[in-house]
Amino acid sequence: MECLEVAKTFKKSGRLIKAVDNVSLSIAPGESLGLVGGSGCGKSTLARVMARLTRMDSGRVVLDGRDISRLNGGELRECYRTLQMVFQDPFASFDPRQTIGRGLLEVLSNFNVGSSGQRKDLVRQALESVGLNVEFGGRLPGDLSGGQCQRAAIARALLVRPRLLICDEATSALDAIVQAQILNLLRKLRDEMGLSVLFISHDLALVRAFCSRIAVMHDGRIVESGPAEKVIAQPEHPHTRLLLSSLITLGESV
Ligand SMILES: Nc1ncnc2c1ncn2[C@@H]1O[C@H](COP(=O)(O)OP(=O)(O)O)[C@@H](O)[C@H]1O
Ligand SMILES: [Mg+2]
Repeated sequence: MECLEVAKTFKKSGRLIKAVDNVSLSIAPGESLGLVGGSGCGKSTLARVMARLTRMDSGRVVLDGRDISRLNGGELRECYRTLQMVFQDPFASFDPRQTIGRGLLEVLSNFNVGSSGQRKDLVRQALESVGLNVEFGGRLPGDLSGGQCQRAAIARALLVRPRLLICDEATSALDAIVQAQILNLLRKLRDEMGLSVLFISHDLALVRAFCSRIAVMHDGRIVESGPAEKVIAQPEHPHTRLLLSSLITLGESV
């Protein structure tokens, strides 16, 4: 996956905000790239533009050799399938009145995956792959804990076998133990499925635990990127040093 010169400007109270300012980055199959940076630096906007949830002003996003930035209709649907996102609040992405199982089945029918008989099996397998017993399929989102619901959200994202998974602060709302469990799960799925992961977090410790490469974002731009160990041991940009100093203050939870 490659982002080339992607830009997105918002108009807010009469002012123009360059949320994403000509960002280029790439993620290889099976690789996880950590995207770090302070609040408001443009991480979520970049993710949403990549996932085609927000329209970009200019630039290109190339997935498996195909420019997905200007797709429409059926091709855009296929693109939504190959690129899935998991958000910070798992409850927000489920309909509170619909059981988890029904929500997952709906995704399969929307994307026309499998026959109706096969779909139940696929849902069961997806739930099991994230460590949720099939019995969770019959529950409403409100009956799940935050960690369980985030697992269900990951199951739903992986149900359609995406090539790239974007996790936007996906574990930030969870306590350290559940956070570590979800990271282990993502690691396993990444290694088994050759999935590429864009892992967005303001927590450098978490990113170091999960990603081989790190890109540091500040004010809409990537100010530094490289192997995780190098960026952490020899930070070049002052903003990276600032993020690192907050990491030392917080201590290492993972
Ligand atoms: N829909 C929007 N309308 C106007 N401004 C927005 C919108 N979404 C994000 N922004 C602005 O774009 C900048 C980047 O936001 P965001 O991508 O959410 O940052 P991050 O995820 O790194 O915290 C911020 O200044 C934010 O206020
Ligand atoms: Mg964000």
